[in-house]
Amino acid sequence: MAATPWVLLLFALAWRSEAVFTSPHQIKLQNNEYSDVLVAIHRDIPEDLRIVDRLKEILTKASEDLYIATNSRAFLKEVKILIPKTWSKKPEYQPAGTETFERANVRVDVPNALYGDNPYVQQKGGCGEAGDYMHLTPKYVLDKQYGEAYWGPNGKTFVHEWAHLRWGLFDEYGQDDPAGQSYPHFYSGSLGGVQPTRCSAWVAGTNKHMVTGAPCQLDPVTGVYGPECRFYPDEQTNRATGSYMFMHFLNQVTSFCHSDPSGDPLSYHNREAPNKHNSLCGGQSAWGVMDRHPDFANGANPPREVQSTVPDFVLLQENDYRIVLVLDASNSMRGEPLRRLGQVATRFIRSTVGFGASVGLVKFARHASIDHPVISVDSQADRDALIATIPTTTVLYTCIGCGLLKGVEALEAVGPPEGGVLLLVTDGRETTAPRIRDVIPELLRKRVIVATVAYSQNADATLESLAQQTGGPSFYAARRDSAALDNAFTATFEATAGGKGVKLLNEERTIAGGQTYTNHVHVDSSVGQNTTFSFYWLGGSRPTVTMETPVGHVITEGSPMYDVTSDTITVEIPGMAPPGKWAYNISNPGPDDHDVITIITSYPPTDGEPIRVKAQVSAVSLNYSSSQPTALRIFASVRRGYLPVTGAVVKVHIAKPPDGRVEELLLLDNGAGADVTKNDGIYSRYFLGFSADGRYGVSVTVDNSQGDAAGYTVIQRRAGSGAMPMDPDAGGSSVQQEPLQQFQRMTTGGVFEVQGVPSGGVPTVDVLPPSRVTDLAVVDVSHADATVTLRWTASGDDFDQGGPANFVELRYGRHFDQLADDFLGSPLVDQSQVLQGNLTSPPPPGHVQTVNIRVPERGHNVTFAFSLRMCDDQDNCSPPSNIVTSNLEHIAQPIKANNTVTWVIIGCVVGVAVLAAILILLYFTVCRAKKQIKPADSIHPAPTNGNTSYARTV
Ligand SMILES: *[C@@H]1O[C@H](CO)[C@@H](O)[C@H](O)[C@H]1NC(C)=O
Ligand SMILES: *[C@@H]1O[C@H](CO)[C@@H](O)[C@H](O)[C@H]1NC(C)=O
Ligand SMILES: *[C@@H]1O[C@H](CO)[C@@H](O)[C@H](O)[C@H]1NC(C)=O
Ligand SMILES: *[C@@H]1O[C@H](CO)[C@@H](O)[C@H](O)[C@H]1NC(C)=O
Ligand SMILES: *[C@@H]1O[C@H](CO)[C@@H](O)[C@H](O)[C@H]1NC(C)=O
Repeated sequence: MAATPWVLLLFALAWRSEAVFTSPHQIKLQNNEYSDVLVAIHRDIPEDLRIVDRLKEILTKASEDLYIATNSRAFLKEVKILIPKTWSKKPEYQPAGTETFERANVRVDVPNALYGDNPYVQQKGGCGEAGDYMHLTPKYVLDKQYGEAYWGPNGKTFVHEWAHLRWGLFDEYGQDDPAGQSYPHFYSGSLGGVQPTRCSAWVAGTNKHMVTGAPCQLDPVTGVYGPECRFYPDEQTNRATGSYMFMHFLNQVTSFCHSDPSGDPLSYHNREAPNKHNSLCGGQSAWGVMDRHPDFANGANPPREVQSTVPDFVLLQENDYRIVLVLDASNSMRGEPLRRLGQVATRFIRSTVGFGASVGLVKFARHASIDHPVISVDSQADRDALIATIPTTTVLYTCIGCGLLKGVEALEAVGPPEGGVLLLVTDGRETTAPRIRDVIPELLRKRVIVATVAYSQNADATLESLAQQTGGPSFYAARRDSAALDNAFTATFEATAGGKGVKLLNEERTIAGGQTYTNHVHVDSSVGQNTTFSFYWLGGSRPTVTMETPVGHVITEGSPMYDVTSDTITVEIPGMAPPGKWAYNISNPGPDDHDVITIITSYPPTDGEPIRVKAQVSAVSLNYSSSQPTALRIFASVRRGYLPVTGAVVKVHIAKPPDGRVEELLLLDNGAGADVTKNDGIYSRYFLGFSADGRYGVSVTVDNSQGDAAGYTVIQRRAGSGAMPMDPDAGGSSVQQEPLQQFQRMTTGGVFEVQGVPSGGVPTVDVLPPSRVTDLAVVDVSHADATVTLRWTASGDDFDQGGPANFVELRYGRHFDQLADDFLGSPLVDQSQVLQGNLTSPPPPGHVQTVNIRVPERGHNVTFAFSLRMCDDQDNCSPPSNIVTSNLEHIAQPIKANNTVTWVIIGCVVGVAVLAAILILLYFTVCRAKKQIKPADSIHPAPTNGNTSYARTV
């Protein structure tokens, strides 16, 4: 099979925006039955009911295969298929409630250019953690023959992906990822000789050169087979039954690898294989991880005979978008908090909500009232009418339950409430019944989504749990933080409505009397449509704004696009704003200090996708004292459509209790520490700086506007957790780097709540170890020098941060098992063995460290295994890293096929020089004849550029 031309299609593909990270739909497993599995079709996929029929077929088969693969412990019992609202309505479709495309477990959407039609799962968490979603393309779903020809039976492919999605397993095959982290296809095994990376070790097949089909040759640099060698399974002789995470498509493969010595040896786990699964799961088998998952832990869901594994399918259809603002107007909101809320709500109604969305407004204090019914916003007058009802006065007492019930009532006035969104903003605690907990059953019954904004540390503690239970996002904004409040409103819209707007900048500045504040923003060409600059102030005299466009035009008071109201200046750039630097000055003419809030938003061109940032925290509530050490992970994805943007400067700002002090952290996409996959456009970091109990507000900025733009790239590649194509040579992957313009983005990462932090803050003694290294790799081996070069990404003093760790404890063994089973008892590499590099002065976290070390032995069958841990100055050490092996035998320089060609060419050139004109004719004859027997170019198209490599995985 030839390399598929996905890469060439890149810019012809429809772009697709990924919504903000939202908590995925909760799948349940009870009594061996998975229910509430949500499969959704994107609204831009043209109506084709065969997609629904084929989904039913695929999932029915998958359920049967899953039942077998889990030893009769689980199958799909209930699957909901969400039909987009763009498809025609049918009586058998039920209205969707909290089921949205953004929360779907399985999405059917245009291809991710990195994967083409190859099914894959986005996994940003570590071993054992659920993935975000499984992605199938319409072509994969519709064209059974095509899908099965490439990736094997639909049902089994789905089960492979399910294992990524549900149990957090990783692939057990080698993979090439020129932009990220590669995993070798071969390794030097303790059974002797070079082994293919596989699970189980009993999968039968042969190792062959991908292009020529010749036997593989050892590469003296790596000690294993060269880069174009692959393992080709042999269906005829294979008896191995595992594993689904390796070659799920083999007939005999019906199970996951396990590590039970008394189990089936043909699916026994191969912990030596240097694949992603072993690296991230510390050598545990697939079942080893599954047995710890709540689905199966402690014998949960024991094997059960069932009559049928055929799932029930429920067809749901998306509703039109409806949102009700449920705003607190109790006394605690009086004055500035209410004014700030009013400004943010006004901007939301005026610029965030697109025409056609339905909006209503409820306020609550002691009682609640529908101050504006839900209407479809179709005109400026509709917006003005809504804005006029934003509360400006306050009353005693707080009845949040009243507000929520009124919100449901407002939705019910215009139709079934299912899927409607209530955006609840409150700063206080409930004083009056019904309380939140009293109305939750009603909210769940009516299947509305509640997004919550805690507008002060003191806001009711149940807000986050309310949002979680109803599938909504939750946010925190300190009382004087309009930027956070505005982010919460826009992120809610993005998460629930799939809004297209992008926030470039959002900040609040205090400008002293008579002073001018100068700043700028970079507008990139992935946005530019309807670019709006908004400036708000809170009382006092009106500031003036002067702007200069990238082409040198000045916009200021009096310009046609400069609009002033009582507390806002809005500058709307008509059409497409030219990309580049937009400078602005805000002057405060009055005598007193002024707080001015600047918000800059823009939309992508009609047929384009913007670069978008979305952020999320790994947990919404944490108990500091329940587990040591406590760490939270913060993720931000920076992507254009599905394509990762790499090399961006992504910072997270965490507003911490008790005083709102902001801690700033740089997020990294380096495949180390909290980051699972390098260069996938998901930037991650641990957060360790707990200061007190309370709410921590998270916002994220991406700012590549400083300095040199050369390093900012979009990389198109294929790798990660996709299903393995059956043909090892199927699908070349290509890395292309598209330089990006300078760009800026801002978003919120929501809120997390922490309890149990010792009063007076966390102890200052260093108890946190560096994080585990998962990317240890052998770079080269030298038989001649008896040396091995190793490389890894350093962790820090505390997890992946702080200063550098204190030292690296690198250990080795002649046998894999020796090192794996007794790390601390294995010989230590000491500095005298180190020829290059330094084990006692590791670089700062996130930096790559390389050492070249001398080994005590070399020769035939001499293999060394290596593993390391990093330790800090308090001797807190990480768990041992992944284990790598190296082959120290003598390897002759291989005779390369193209060497012959080289010699012929040289021969030809010499011949021409010596024999001149006489041999010209012969020269052409020989050289042309040689060219024609070059390896089958026509079967395997040549790489399109120097960076191309062959990825068998996706
Ligand atoms: C090398 O390993 C192979 C396979 O295990 C074995 O047959 C052979 O005897 C070994 N050779 C030496 C010199 O140990
Ligand atoms: C951009 O503004 C125009 C004019 O106000 C409006 O008609 C259009 O819908 C806006 N586009 C977006 C994407 O908001
Ligand atoms: C902003 O103010 C600075 C200093 O007064 C001035 O040099 C600059 O031209 C001004 N920029 C704009 C866009 O008005
Ligand atoms: C936190 O964990 C500790 C220790 O397990 C427990 O005593 C405490 O009750 C927990 N606190 C909360 C709020 O759950
Ligand atoms: C390694 O680094 C440590 C600390 O910087 C230094 O004292 C030591 O001399 C270095 N060792 C070598 C061999 O360079």
